[in-house]
Amino acid sequence: MTDYFRKKVHSDEIIATFDDMLIIPGYTNFDIDKIDISSKLGKYEFHVPIISSAMDTVTAEEMAIKMALLGGLGVLHRNCSLQKQLEMVRKVKRARSFVIDDVATIKVDAKLAEAKMRMEKDGISGIVVINDENKVCGIFTKRDFPYKEEIMNTGDVKDYMTKNVVSIDPGASREEALEMLFQHRIEKLPITENGHLKGLITTKDLKPEFPLASKDEEGRLLCALALSPKFPENISSLKLLKEIDHYTDIFFIDVAAFYKDVDIRGTKNLMESLESDFVLGNIGTYEAAEFLLTKCDFSEQFIGLKVGMGSGSICSTSIQTGVGAPTLYATAQVADAIADYNPKIGLIADGGFKNPGDLPKAIAVGADLIMSGHFFAGCEESPGYVDTIQGRKVKVYRGMGSKEARTSEFILDRYIEGESSKTLPEGVSDYVPFVGSVSGVLSTLKEGLRNGMIYAGANNISNMKKAKVGIISNAGQIEQRPHDLMGRY
Ligand code: IMP
Repeated sequence: MTDYFRKKVHSDEIIATFDDMLIIPGYTNFDIDKIDISSKLGKYEFHVPIISSAMDTVTAEEMAIKMALLGGLGVLHRNCSLQKQLEMVRKVKRARSFVIDDVATIKVDAKLAEAKMRMEKDGISGIVVINDENKVCGIFTKRDFPYKEEIMNTGDVKDYMTKNVVSIDPGASREEALEMLFQHRIEKLPITENGHLKGLITTKDLKPEFPLASKDEEGRLLCALALSPKFPENISSLKLLKEIDHYTDIFFIDVAAFYKDVDIRGTKNLMESLESDFVLGNIGTYEAAEFLLTKCDFSEQFIGLKVGMGSGSICSTSIQTGVGAPTLYATAQVADAIADYNPKIGLIADGGFKNPGDLPKAIAVGADLIMSGHFFAGCEESPGYVDTIQGRKVKVYRGMGSKEARTSEFILDRYIEGESSKTLPEGVSDYVPFVGSVSGVLSTLKEGLRNGMIYAGANNISNMKKAKVGIISNAGQIEQRPHDLMGRY
C-alpha cells in the first residue's frame, strides 16, 4: 500500500470505499495467459478467489455445489433448523467425490413412493437396494420409475430395480472404475466386499468436468457453513452440530459485529467441541483484528477473518445505528494487522461489491478472497423463484437482518439481540435482476479481476497486494465513469 493511501484511508480520518480509490497502473512484464488468480485460506486452495454469501436468498446447497465446482466457495446460510443444515452439508459433501462413503440405500421391500421421497430429499438420481442382511441386491435410478403415475403408490422397488448389479472391489483405482463403468455402459458402480456395500462410484464424479473444483483431501467438494457464535443450548443440538461438523470443512462465524466478548467466548467453546476450521467475522478495524490475533488464544482452527460492516447492498446497519466500516477500509485495516501479527491468517473482504473492478481493488488493499451476495442472488442457482416485474425477470434478495428474514428464530443472534433488534431491522428486502447461471457471473468477475491485475502489473494475488493505490478526487470519480454522453448513463 502506498504511504499516501495508508495515511489517508487507514487513518481514521477518511473512511473510504471502492469508489473512492483506484489502483495505479503498473509495468506488465509477464505473459498475460499465465496470470494466476488462485488464492489460499488456511490449507485450502481456491482457483477462483470468490465466495457467495451465507444468506438465505443466495447460498443453499445448489449454489454451494456450483461455487465449489467452479473453483470458488459458497457458504451455506443458517436461517433454518440444524436438521436442515445437516441435510445441506451432506448434499454438498456427497455431490462430487470419487468414492461416496455415505451411500443412500433402501430396503428391497420398499415401495416406489418411498424411493421417490428419499431420492428427492437427498437430491440424488439413484439409490442402492439392500436386503435384510445388508447385502446389495439391486440398484434403482430415476430412469426406473414407471411412467404410469398410479403405480407410484402401489408399486414395489424390487419389480423395477436393476437386479444384476455390476460392482467393484474396495481399493480399485480411478482407471479401473472408469473402465468398468464404460464396459458395462453404466453410471453407478457400488463398491462391495462379500456382497456388503462399502461405497459408491459414479460416472459424473470421475469425469474431470470441473477441473478447477475446490476439493478436500479426499476429492470431495469443500463445504462451508455459517455458524452462530452461541454455544448450543442443549445436548441434542450439540449432537446435531457435531454431525454437521463431520461434513463441513470451514465454519464461518456469522454475526454483523464479532468484536464482542460474548461472541469470542462462545466461539472458543465451539472450537473445543468441533473439528472444522473457522473464519471469524465480521470485523472492521485494525484494533479488532489485533485483539483477535494476539489476545484471544484461539486454536489452530482459526484460519481467516471476514471484514466489512455496513457495506452490503441490502444492509441498513449504518443508517440505523450510525456505525460502519466499509469493506475497502476494513480490508486495508485488517490486512495491516494480519501482516503485523500473523500473515498465515486469510482475509475475506465481504460485501459492497458493485462492479467487477471492485474485486482487484479489494485484493490490492490486502484481501485474499472476496465475498458477495449481490452478484449471486439473481442467479439460477440461488434459492427462490424467478419472478417477472414490468417484463423483467427478477429474484428476491434480502438482508439477513431484514424484517422478512428475521421472522424465523434462527438468525436473530446475527445482530443485537433483544426486543430493539426486532423493531429496528438492519437490512432490507428487494429484487435483483435474474442473471442466469452462476458460471456466467463468475466468468465476468474473473475477467474483471484478471484484467485489473494485468493493468496493475501483477501476475498473481500476492503481487497484486503490492499494487499501488490512491484516493481519487470527486472530479476524478466522475471522469472515471462514462460521461458527457446523451444520457444512457
Ligand atoms: P452485498 O454483496 O453487497 O449485497 O453484501 C452481502 C453481505 O452483506 C453479506 O455477505 C453479509 O456480510 C452482509 N449482510 C447480509 N445481510 C445483511 C443485513 O441484513 N444487514 C447488514 N449486512 C448484511
